[in-house]
Amino acid sequence: MDNRFNTTSGWVLFALIVALGSTIVAGEVFHSERPEKMGYPIAGVVEPGEDGAGAEQPIAVYLASADAAKGEASFKKCAACHNAAPGGAHALGPNLHAIMGAPVAGKPGFAYSEALKGKGGTWTWEAMSEWLKSPKGFAPGTKMTFAGLGDPQERANLMVWLNSQGSSLPIPAAPAPTAEPGAGPGDGAQKAEKQPVVNATGAADPKGGGEADPQQN
Ligand code: HEC
Repeated sequence: MDNRFNTTSGWVLFALIVALGSTIVAGEVFHSERPEKMGYPIAGVVEPGEDGAGAEQPIAVYLASADAAKGEASFKKCAACHNAAPGGAHALGPNLHAIMGAPVAGKPGFAYSEALKGKGGTWTWEAMSEWLKSPKGFAPGTKMTFAGLGDPQERANLMVWLNSQGSSLPIPAAPAPTAEPGAGPGDGAQKAEKQPVVNATGAADPKGGGEADPQQN
């Protein structure tokens, strides 16, 4: 009697141990980690930020295909603080008429921050693009509390529209990615790229200065 009971409970105990053991082992074997990336990778699809995709090209590339009408629509983002009307009043931000090509922080009668006053130079395509991309990055300490426009095409559209509001900076030739077949060694293209920078400073200056005075006092 006793013997058989011991034997039986021995087997029961043994069975329990085996069951418990295999649960642990199975857990180890089949335990699956949550994958770091969910979903299936699709071959050939480049994710943004990889392989230079999404890297910005020179602003001239976007200017070449800029759309002033879209730029005017984007200016709504600026209109809380700016207008671009000839002789328009300064608001939270200065009047932006004829701003392209004009001196940085040069509108009479507006109290610019030291940060922007200290920049010097004129509003070239490149400078304006940097400024609109990140006002704080361009002039740390500026009082233009605007996050910036990350999309280079939107900046180009906006600048081309601004340029039509009393400025006339020549739009730079887009740098050709590869030499055009039969176009020679590309002399013409290189010259065209450099020209606008030279013209930039002088072109819109007289306008900007001349107009700013009457609205002043
Ligand atoms: C919240 C108000 C605000 C918004 C929105 C804003 N700005 Fe400004 N902006 C300012 C202020 C303030 C300054 C003067 C900055 C300083 O002195 O540091 C300024 C300065 C500027 C200047 C320099 C002008 C000069 O005379 O040198 C330009 C150009 C400009 N803003 C363009 C824009 C454009 C384009 C947008 C829209 C994409 C925009 N701003 C949105 C407030 C604003």
